[in-house]
Amino acid sequence: MRAGRTSSAIGVVLALSLLAAACGDDGNGVDPEESVASPETPPTETPPDGEEGPDVLEEAAPLRQVAPEGFKIGTAVAGGGHHENQPVPDPFNTDEEYRELVGQEFNSVTPENHLKWEMVHPEQGEYDFERADEIVAYAQDHDQVVRGHTLVWHSQNPGWLEAGDFTSEELREILRDHIHTVVGRYKGQIQQWDVANEIFDDNATWRDSVWYDALGPDYVADALRWAHEADPDAQLFLNDYNVEGINAKSTAWYELIQDLLADDVPVHGFGIQGHLSIEFAFPGNVQANLERFDALGLETAITEVDVRMVLPDDGVPTEQQLQRQASDFGRLLEACLAVEGCDSFTVWGFADQYSWVPVFFPGEGAANLMDEDFTRKPAYDELQRLLAEQRSGAS
Ligand code: XIL
Repeated sequence: MRAGRTSSAIGVVLALSLLAAACGDDGNGVDPEESVASPETPPTETPPDGEEGPDVLEEAAPLRQVAPEGFKIGTAVAGGGHHENQPVPDPFNTDEEYRELVGQEFNSVTPENHLKWEMVHPEQGEYDFERADEIVAYAQDHDQVVRGHTLVWHSQNPGWLEAGDFTSEELREILRDHIHTVVGRYKGQIQQWDVANEIFDDNATWRDSVWYDALGPDYVADALRWAHEADPDAQLFLNDYNVEGINAKSTAWYELIQDLLADDVPVHGFGIQGHLSIEFAFPGNVQANLERFDALGLETAITEVDVRMVLPDDGVPTEQQLQRQASDFGRLLEACLAVEGCDSFTVWGFADQYSWVPVFFPGEGAANLMDEDFTRKPAYDELQRLLAEQRSGAS
């Protein structure tokens, strides 16, 4: 996204000055002195419930309100998946503060699990849209867009599909019906669909899956075509992890997308998940990587950001860990903001108590923007600062 537009309006300057002052230099070249928003910084949009005037803005300045016009700052909406084995299974329906923050802070939502095959298509020919419908309805009530995730994946598939012993022709039919049914149900209501997810393995070769094994690589083009038939206005994305920078895997995607475009397959976007860890170096060339997809005429998006860490024995991240985390969140956002067609940045949950990280990476955690009491971390402040700076046209 290029430098923000300016317009006259009441400011968020007080809150932002305080926030900028609170953000120390993290040793990664971020200079807080350059980050204070101008007094012209306007609120981006009217908050959904209309109750937040300038006073509240000064105190809180939610991310969606400081974001540049047109920019989508999103979150995954927790539920399903790993939460099934945790004490609080469904924060969207059980934790009022969580639910309020989803609408207050974000203008884009992605169901974390409820549009995946195992949740939405649990038995052959039987769909369960209840939970996804709730999220889509909430999004409409709160003036949010929805990212649909995901239509073809190797993971979280129902048993009937994985163990079904179907012929290739049957699988193709099953996939077409699924895509037509799911995309069709939300026609006009989903801004971006992650059509195919994680199709390459870490060697940048095609990943084995129920789809690849039966249908070969053509399943990706077919899935895109079927999704386009069902909702011609949805932006169709391809999505993966470990593709933040220019590397073998992101290059495999780049080459595949060139082939798809040459064949007139409807593909509109490339999504970089952004599951990072402070145990590793920040990936190089993120902006250049986004730019090469942008140059193909694609939208780009950062779709699932969290930044995990190995927790100290007491479970409480150190200040140094939090600063490094803030820097990583910020550097991903900066790369996106610098690229014309990167208009969407989604965090994979915003509160640590609902994160998938401790379940999938034992010993690691604290990967989100807020801690378990919804206290904002430096990473939250950093995103807020960068969004406001872009909006004011200061960068
Ligand atoms: C994760 C969810 O967060 C968990 O709740 C679930 O148990 C497993 O999947 N890449 C993706 C996401 O594309 O769908 C994954 O979400 C995280 C990695």
